[in-house]
Amino acid sequence: MPYLWLKALHIIFVVAWFAGLFYLPRLFVYHCDVDDSVANARFQLMERRLYLFTLMNTAMAVACGAGLVIEQPFWLTQTWMQIKVALVLALLGFQWSCWRLVVAFREGRNQHDGRWYRWYNEIPTVLLFAIVILVVVKPAF
Ligand code: HEM
Repeated sequence: MPYLWLKALHIIFVVAWFAGLFYLPRLFVYHCDVDDSVANARFQLMERRLYLFTLMNTAMAVACGAGLVIEQPFWLTQTWMQIKVALVLALLGFQWSCWRLVVAFREGRNQHDGRWYRWYNEIPTVLLFAIVILVVVKPAF
């Protein structure tokens, strides 16, 4: 596939991936205040489905990113790209922690309040700023 088409797909899947990363902690904010079993079951279903959908977009975004690096291996020699990959690993760690929280809600073990989830929600925002600046500005370190 031509490089620019691959890059376009990469950006599309990254946007879809982040939609999930922003929406999931928002669900946690509302879920932690719920005390009836019907609403609780509905939130659990929404969180599980959203997580699986997000995982699909993660796979596509990372696969397209890997395709770009395979087409242009030179990028991997650049410090900004090495930092970007490290930040992507941090993002995957955040996503894994979201799954742990989905499971905790399912097992009735949630220990955090809405305020905590609002702060937790800022982690992907900070990573998004850093990654987009690195990849667009390509600073020389
Ligand atoms: C392992 C995961 C990833 C790899 C290997 C990867 C790799 C790449 C590569 C090689 C490019 C092309 C750079 C260029 O042609 O100038 C690119 C572009 C881009 N990546 Fe990623 N990427 C990954 C994940 C992400 C993530 C998580 C984000 C967003 C937070 C992201 C955002 C972007 C954007 C916005 C561009 C377009 C930059 C431009 O054309 O100016 N990537 N990526």
